[in-house]
Amino acid sequence: MSPRTTISFRLNGRDISVETAPDARAVDLLRDLGALDVKEGCGTGECGACSILAGGAHVLSCLMLAAQLDGREITTPSGLGTPGEPHPVQQALAEGGAVQCGFCTPGMSMAAAALLAQNPAPTREEIRTAISGNLCRCTGYVMIVDAVQAAARKMRGDSGPPQAAAQTSRKKPAAARKKGGKG
Ligand code: FES
Ligand code: FES
Repeated sequence: MSPRTTISFRLNGRDISVETAPDARAVDLLRDLGALDVKEGCGTGECGACSILAGGAHVLSCLMLAAQLDGREITTPSGLGTPGEPHPVQQALAEGGAVQCGFCTPGMSMAAAALLAQNPAPTREEIRTAISGNLCRCTGYVMIVDAVQAAARKMRGDSGPPQAAAQTSRKKPAAARKKGGKG
């Protein structure tokens, strides 16, 4: 049997030190630690449900080894915001009708929050690209893109109208189209 190793990382602001097997996946370790907000959909890097932030970058925890969490700052959806104090992206998704069955929402919020941390005023195309690895079978993506734009405006303190019509194409993300995503 492979030797287990001890890894240490921060999970939603909490210091974690835990033993793990060399072939354990990050998604499994995080869920074993109680982070059930990290969902597993496909398990193969196709759906984005298992999205987390590692050092602020959007990554897929089903494709990561647990050992790769070592030394990193990990944020899951519940670390991004809480029901009482949601992140602007989480709030905008909920208020904008962009949450239907809700399965994609935690991962979607991770992808969008990572984008807005890097790019406070993304175009609709940039938003679609950023969320293209996060599949949603319910919403058709338009309300999600609207919500991310609303969150961006709120985070910038901009109370103006949404961006111009040139950026309001109703196409769904390229990756979703390729994968046969509906909407
Ligand atoms: S569960 Fe990780 S991408 Fe689908
Ligand atoms: S809201 Fe159902 S998959 Fe996105």
